[in-house]
Formats: sequence, structure tokens, C-alpha cells
Amino acid sequence: MKSSEHVVRQAYQIGPADREKALGQSGQVLWFTGLSGSGKSTLANEVEQALHHAGRHTFLLDGDNLRHGLNGDLGFSEADRTENIRRVAEVAKLMADAGLIVLTAFVSPFAADREKARSIVGPDRFVEIYVDCPLEVCESRDVKGLYAKARQGLIPDFTGISSPFEAPELPQLRVQTAENDLATCCQQILNHLA
Ligand code: ADX
Repeated sequence: MKSSEHVVRQAYQIGPADREKALGQSGQVLWFTGLSGSGKSTLANEVEQALHHAGRHTFLLDGDNLRHGLNGDLGFSEADRTENIRRVAEVAKLMADAGLIVLTAFVSPFAADREKARSIVGPDRFVEIYVDCPLEVCESRDVKGLYAKARQGLIPDFTGISSPFEAPELPQLRVQTAENDLATCCQQILNHLA
């Protein structure tokens, strides 16, 4: 039995449209997906800065940070990643209902989890952005030293090494961070949003 079975929804008097009107923008979720080290966080930060300086109301949810708080009880098994993404999608939905432009930076390696996130948030305000970067490049960058540890067998279920990454087949947008610099990728996203 789901714990919400005997819970009846309450009606709100102020809805998303009221809050969007007050903020002068539409709530949406920019969902960055890609391998560890592909540049999701860097790019999401860059895009957020540009939006913020343009007067937009934004919020950035980053896997490395949420895993220290809200999702601190989760590991990297398939089930835990699914739960990680479900919680992030629910939080992103609430924030989009608040009228914010939400940027999420999570590996989110499983296509089914991303589809579920899209349906939780609402497909009309969900933008899937595939931060595409070859594994070899991510591994050679190895900013956090995690690939080296994963190769040594010190980190189990590491995406790209011992756990799969299901690349998006039809993302709204694909940016290639090995071929283009940060400013170019950021501009591609801003152009898409405009
Ligand atoms: S997700 O797969 O559940 O979406 P999430 O984005 O929250 O992952 O966290 C990924 C970050 O955790 C990576 O950027 C990396 O720094 C770190 N990490 C630690 N262990 C792993 C692992 N086994 N696989 C992938 N990333 C890991």
C-alpha cells in the first residue's frame, strides 16, 4: 500500500500561473545529463549566471551537493539512482511551480528515470540537455580522480566504467564539450531557450 493512499489533496488558492505572473517568467527545468566529468556542473553554472544576470529567477540543483543533504542516504546502485532522480524531479517540479528556472546537473544515466522525471515535471516545461563528451575525454580530465579509483576497482558501479550510461536518443539539445569551449556551449543553450 502506498503511504499516500488515504491522503486527500488540498486545493491551493494561488497556483503556478499566479506565481509566474508575479515573477514575469515561466517556470521550467533544464535537465543536464551526461557522464561524470562531461561538464554538466560547469555548464549549468555558466548558464545560471547568464540567466541570473539577465534578471531571471533561477535555482541550480547539483548531484554532488544534493548527495550531501536530501539524497545523502543514497548510493549508486540502480535502485538508489532511480530514487535520487525521482526526488530531484519532484523538487524541480515544486520549484518550477514556484515559477523558477531550475537547472539540474545529475549523471541520470538511465533513460527510464529521465522519462519519469519529464513526466513528473511536465513535458512542456522540461528541457533535456545532453552534455555529450566521450568517455576517454572525461577519463583523461578526471577532475576528481574518481575514474582512476574506479579503474582500480575502488569505486563500484561507476558510470561509464562498471555501470552503464544510456545516452539520450532524442534530447531537446545536445552540446559537445570536447569539441566546443564553455562559452560556445553556454550560448547554444541560451539560444535554444530564447
Ligand atoms: S546519478 O547517477 O544518481 O544521477 P549523481 O549525479 O547524483 O548520479 O552523482 C554523480 C556524482 O557522484 C559524480 O559526479 C561523481 O562525482 C560522484 N560519484 C561517486 N561515485 C559514483 C559512481 N559510482 N558513479 C557515478 N558517479 C559517482
